[in-house]
Amino acid sequence: MRQSLQILTDELRRLKTEGVGVVAVSDEALAALRRVVAGRQERSRQTPPAVAPFPGNVRAPVEGALPAYTPPAASAPAAPVLPTAPVAKLPASPVVPPLAGDKRTRWDALLAQVTGDLTCQANVRPGKKVVLGVGSLDAAIMFVGEAPGAEEEIQGEPFVGPAGQLLTKMIQGMGLRREDVYIGNIMNWRPQMPTVAGREQVGNRPPTEEEMRYCLPYLLAQIEIVDPAVLVALGSTAAQGLLGFRSFKTLGEVRGRWHNFAGKPLMITYHPSYILREPTNRKKRLIWEDLLQVMERVALPISDRQRAYFLER
Ligand code: URA
Repeated sequence: MRQSLQILTDELRRLKTEGVGVVAVSDEALAALRRVVAGRQERSRQTPPAVAPFPGNVRAPVEGALPAYTPPAASAPAAPVLPTAPVAKLPASPVVPPLAGDKRTRWDALLAQVTGDLTCQANVRPGKKVVLGVGSLDAAIMFVGEAPGAEEEIQGEPFVGPAGQLLTKMIQGMGLRREDVYIGNIMNWRPQMPTVAGREQVGNRPPTEEEMRYCLPYLLAQIEIVDPAVLVALGSTAAQGLLGFRSFKTLGEVRGRWHNFAGKPLMITYHPSYILREPTNRKKRLIWEDLLQVMERVALPISDRQRAYFLER
């Protein structure tokens, strides 16, 4: 139950950073939550805890890779469990050896390493796939999403589910085909959640800091091989993976502006699932304005019609 609550908290926080203010909860789920909260309140009345001040969100550097995780000093007061606490201990991040040859040869070698990675394999359920990026190895634009979902882990390809179909439409709106760009993820596996024995996982959770740290070398290797002109991070989890964990509170603070990651200009915008949840022209326009900046940066032609997309209310 505690892990499920953790996952729920993570997801609610993520939705909040993406601007979602209201979520629907069934009466049964609400009743279950009330029971848990009532139980907690009862326990805390019985044993007053040694109060540990919440450390707050330490702002990590805004640019660069994930900051190293520093465990609290032994003498420090016990910190509350952060919603991002790793679900399972992962080994040190993999080392991608220098890859030789042309782009395709290097990408194939990377694919072999990622699909043969025992940690990646251990994190996918039987019959499901580890997922590497897809698309043109000569792409000027590389999109970076969060993690594979249900469809992606079946097909072994990023962004093929509902959010992926919307991303493909956005790419087409830019005058490109899906296969003209490169699409990757922060994560190479679908973050697992507890499931009923023998049943499929329902829903998704955002990856933990540790999971993102583990997969980061694979993303960096893809950036090195493809060598795109720009990166586009989709959503707050991807943005945190690139800018630094908890380096911002809301996506609004960082989206629509150019940042830098791995020596590449990085645009941050909303995740397509943000639009799926509330498909208003106002929200579509926000993403579209970010994509117009990307088009300008890579010198794609922009028609008057494209400039005016989603302006009508
Ligand atoms: N959402 C993501 O961030 N990545 C995927 O591959 C699919 C959905």
